[in-house]
Amino acid sequence: MASAKQAVERHYTRGRLGETILAALKQAGKDVDHLTIDDLAPVDEFHGRGRSATVELARLLNPGGDVRVLDVGSGIGGPSRYLAQRHGCRVDGIDITAEFCEVATMLAARTGLSERVTYRHGDALAVPFADGSFDVVWSQNVSMNIAERDRFYAELHRVLKPGGRLAISEVLAGPGGAAHLPVPWASDPSISFLLPEDVTRAKLAAAGFAVSAWVDTTPTGPAPAPPVAPPPLGLHLLIGPAWAEVVRNGFRNYAEARIRSMTAVLTRA
Ligand SMILES: C[S@@+](CC[C@H](N)C(=O)[O-])C[C@H]1O[C@@H](n2cnc3c(N)ncnc32)[C@H](O)[C@@H]1O
Repeated sequence: MASAKQAVERHYTRGRLGETILAALKQAGKDVDHLTIDDLAPVDEFHGRGRSATVELARLLNPGGDVRVLDVGSGIGGPSRYLAQRHGCRVDGIDITAEFCEVATMLAARTGLSERVTYRHGDALAVPFADGSFDVVWSQNVSMNIAERDRFYAELHRVLKPGGRLAISEVLAGPGGAAHLPVPWASDPSISFLLPEDVTRAKLAAAGFAVSAWVDTTPTGPAPAPPVAPPPLGLHLLIGPAWAEVVRNGFRNYAEARIRSMTAVLTRA
């Protein structure tokens, strides 16, 4: 039987993802040898509200230039390249999905950011860095795949310097019942682990974090009409064939209060 980590990696692995993204970029009229972070934003920000969610969290964090950041669950690297390009950060990314790390590295080279961002295959539950290595730990929409949440937060705390900050976004369990699946992070319940907001806050506090800013990002108002077909360049390239159902479930899960979302900055005690 596959371990939870293998099941998560299998869920996210598309196969030939780098080639697929480059082909879509060409189709969208981009020069794939000289890409900008804005060219990539429709495909490399793998979380709700895309680039705007990253901009919002970076604003809350307001990192000084040249700070050392660890992006845990860095995906194909949109948030880390944004922090490097727009805020001057040096970012190490780790991710459990080897294909995502390869694609992230390739896209860093094509955006001229290889000096400031690096990616390696690694597990958030055993972060391959020494204690106190980072000024900032950043983790966007990763915890939903992690059952051992206390160990996850303890690892994020361990690799931060004293006084360092955690910038985090999460999908939370809502009061409306279990989420309809598939969702972007899971096709079945064996790799989906949402917690309610109060439990999340209590676990972060128990790990040694104090809240500096906490924003409820749950969408309000009527859901937009689901798109009929995806554009050439979009998250469907990462989500795969279930894309249309995943989009529909996202709207339903929020409308039925089955999921909520938050973004926050916390300080390591
Ligand atoms: C929804 S994607 C978000 C990617 C990225 N943070 C972003 O916002 O663009 C979730 C990511 O978490 C990674 N992940 C899940 N469990 C992990 C673990 N235990 N350790 C490291 N990465 C993990 C997945 O491989 C995937 O890249």
